Formats: sequence, structure tokens, C-alpha cells
Amino acid sequence: MEIIIQPTQQAATEVAARTIARLLCGKPNAVLGLATGSTPLLLYQTLIAMKLDWSHVTTFNLDEYIGLPRDHAQSYHSFMWNNLFKHVNIGKENVHIPDGNAQDIPGFCREYEEQISAAGGIDLQVLGIGTDGHIGFNEPSSSLASRTRIKTLTRQTCMDNARFFGSEESVPRHVITMGIGTIMEARQNLLLAFGQNKACAIAQAVEGPITSINPASILQMHPVVKVILDELAAGNLTRSDYYRWVYKSKPDWQSV
Ligand code: PGA
Repeated sequence: MEIIIQPTQQAATEVAARTIARLLCGKPNAVLGLATGSTPLLLYQTLIAMKLDWSHVTTFNLDEYIGLPRDHAQSYHSFMWNNLFKHVNIGKENVHIPDGNAQDIPGFCREYEEQISAAGGIDLQVLGIGTDGHIGFNEPSSSLASRTRIKTLTRQTCMDNARFFGSEESVPRHVITMGIGTIMEARQNLLLAFGQNKACAIAQAVEGPITSINPASILQMHPVVKVILDELAAGNLTRSDYYRWVYKSKPDWQSV
């Protein structure tokens, strides 16, 4: 894992944006895995401002609430179109977001996995992390080999997301999420985390044991991961001096 600690969320986001821009310049038909929530908002604004060419890009989103109408203000369909897709030249047919209103959810999930494979697999997956260590909506105790499927949110995640819905009770309990096995097949993962409330989950994911109780810890087994943090999210890491030293000492050709 490459741990990149930046002074601010903005500086950290710029590292992530440059990584994505470099990929799209080298591979205009790249397949991106995308995330929702507060964490990637600034990333999407930065990518929009870069005026990249999205005409050949394909995207797959990590997750979606079950049962929310697609045009609900808090659906991840709305989030992605409002915060990214309508501002870039991506083809509607190249956008994939789990359908939280699918009649046959297991069938839909199988098809989603097949679509990812048919697109050639995900080149770069953007990830946030929950305060409980989830990636996508793979909550603690998720199988580390899991595929796209239905999950039930933890109480912790419902409380965390109550800010978007007005109350904890209004947060849908069920979601469709790519599995941890699905995420681990992406050729590159970018895990972003900002703010003190992520510091414990990040310390466990980066320096703790690999365990389904902190699903993000499985990324220790992935060959190409950047963990991009602001100072606050890095606050509980015991080896932050080492990570800073490594990042500063990179050869020029490797730097972002
Ligand atoms: P957040 O959520 O970006 O809104 O903090 C992250 C997550 O739940 O994965």
C-alpha cells in the first residue's frame, strides 16, 4: 500500500485527480469504478474542471440504496448525475450504477458482475471508507471474497448517513454493493479519507490485521493501492513519518 498524507483535503484530492487524469490520458477508454458520499465530491469537481475527455470512458458505481426511486435526491443515481456525469462528455450507455429497484436482485447482481467483466474489468476503483471500515457498502463481517449482492447497513452507517436523509430512520436499510472480491479485482484502487472521524478506521485498515471486521484492511492484499489522506484522517497512524518519507523520496517518474 502506498500511504499518501497531504496537508489538506484539497491537496489530497489533487493527487487522486492527477492519478485519474494520467490514466485517462494514457487509456482514453479506461473503465473507472466510482464512489459516492462526501469524500469524492471535491474529486469530481476537480475532474470536471480538468475538462478531460470522457467520451470513451466506462464507469461502474460501487453501490446504491434499495427501494429509493432513481430520481430521489439521495439516490446514488442522482448523486452521480448531479455531481459528475452531467458535467462531462460521458455517454449515458457507458454509465453503470446498481439498480436499487431491480425486481430480481440476485439476477441483477450477477448481471452487474458480468457487465464489469465484459467491459474488460475495472482499471481504477475510487473508494471512500466508512467509520466502521466499510468499502462500498461491505459492512464489517462481509466475506472478503464477496461479489455484488444485497447487504444490510449497520446501525453505525445509518447514523453516519442520517445527515443526508434528515433522520436515521429514513436511511434505507438495504443496499446493493459490489463485493470485496469485486473491488479486489480492480487493477488499481484509490482509497480516499478525510477528517478525524475516519482516523480509527484508517489506522485499522492500514496498520491493523487483515480482518472482515475492518473490510478495508483487505486492501493490504492488493498489489496497487494508494491510500490518500488528509492530516486528520492520518492522525492515528503510528508510522506516518515513514509514509511521508517514502512519498517524498519517490523517483520523479513515479510521482503524482
Ligand atoms: P463519506 O462516506 O464519504 O460520506 O464519508 C464514505 C463511505 O461510507 O464509504
